[in-house]
Amino acid sequence: MAISRNWAQSPIVARHQTADNHVELILKSPELATAVPGQFAHVLTPGMLRRPISFSRIDEHHGEVGLLFQVVGSGTKWLSQRLVGDVLDILGPLGHGFPPPDPHKPWVLVGGGVGVPPLYCAAQVWLKDVAQQPSAIIGARTAKWLLMADDFATLGIPVALSTDDGSAGREGTIIEPLEEWLGTHGDAQVYACGPMPMLQAVSHITKGKAISFLALEQRMGCGIGACLACVVPTQGNLGIAYRRVCTEGPVFRAEELMW
Ligand SMILES: Cc1cc2nc3c(=O)[nH]c(=O)nc-3n(C[C@H](O)[C@H](O)[C@H](O)COP(=O)(O)OP(=O)(O)OC[C@H]3O[C@@H](n4cnc5c(N)ncnc54)[C@H](O)[C@@H]3O)c2cc1C
Ligand code: FES
Repeated sequence: MAISRNWAQSPIVARHQTADNHVELILKSPELATAVPGQFAHVLTPGMLRRPISFSRIDEHHGEVGLLFQVVGSGTKWLSQRLVGDVLDILGPLGHGFPPPDPHKPWVLVGGGVGVPPLYCAAQVWLKDVAQQPSAIIGARTAKWLLMADDFATLGIPVALSTDDGSAGREGTIIEPLEEWLGTHGDAQVYACGPMPMLQAVSHITKGKAISFLALEQRMGCGIGACLACVVPTQGNLGIAYRRVCTEGPVFRAEELMW
């Protein structure tokens, strides 16, 4: 897929407080709505710094996209205070997103914390193209930070929940429910996004059992391949190489990544 680097002035058309300390902004932007799930928007915040946020939903027909984020620092705090009618300065869609699922194979969407939005986006965009409905397994530290469970349910997708403290769903991580799912689904496709230790565990338990696509949310600088702030070690036919998450990722096949 070719990488397009639009520069979009995108008005906010809706704003939702989705969970404690999390906000979703819906933007009008036909340019960004050409994105594929797993790609991201690089949003200008004060001080000329940009912040990468994955698309949480894409509506190409109406030219709208969603960005769902947790407020963790100055950039996301500023972003959370934007209102309907404000215009965001965005570079995007950036990076290589998820490949579409093989329509005849089982697939599962595995998200942890703020890794859930790009997986919901994958379901929302590709559900109509597949013969097999996906399953979703989503986790968070605690119940108030579980994201988009209702959105998956609205699409008719079965959702297994887990929280570290047991305040919703099963106590623990997403790993146990994923192991159970893999036990009943052969020749499967796993789509995952979340913290690095979670992705490492997903990579480990899916090895030899499923094809896994992992979206990394690495710290970034420029977002367009110039500064090398985001490189990760990978391995392939040509040996070990450092690759840029912003342009060659953020989605990689699990076996490419070195932990
Ligand atoms: C490709 C990509 C997609 C992303 N998608 C989303 C998304 O959909 N929703 C969402 O909430 N966040 C997402 N993030 C993370 C988001 O970019 C950061 O949380 C944001 O840039 C923090 O900016 P800030 O100015 O608010 O915080 P800062 O002041 O920059 O940082 C505050 C704290 O957050 C930590 N932090 C900042 N960036 C990251 C990161 N990438 N990973 C882990 N810790 C970080 C810092 O170390 C610090 O402790 C994504 C990151 C990448 C690279
Ligand atoms: S963020 Fe600059 S090269 Fe990736």
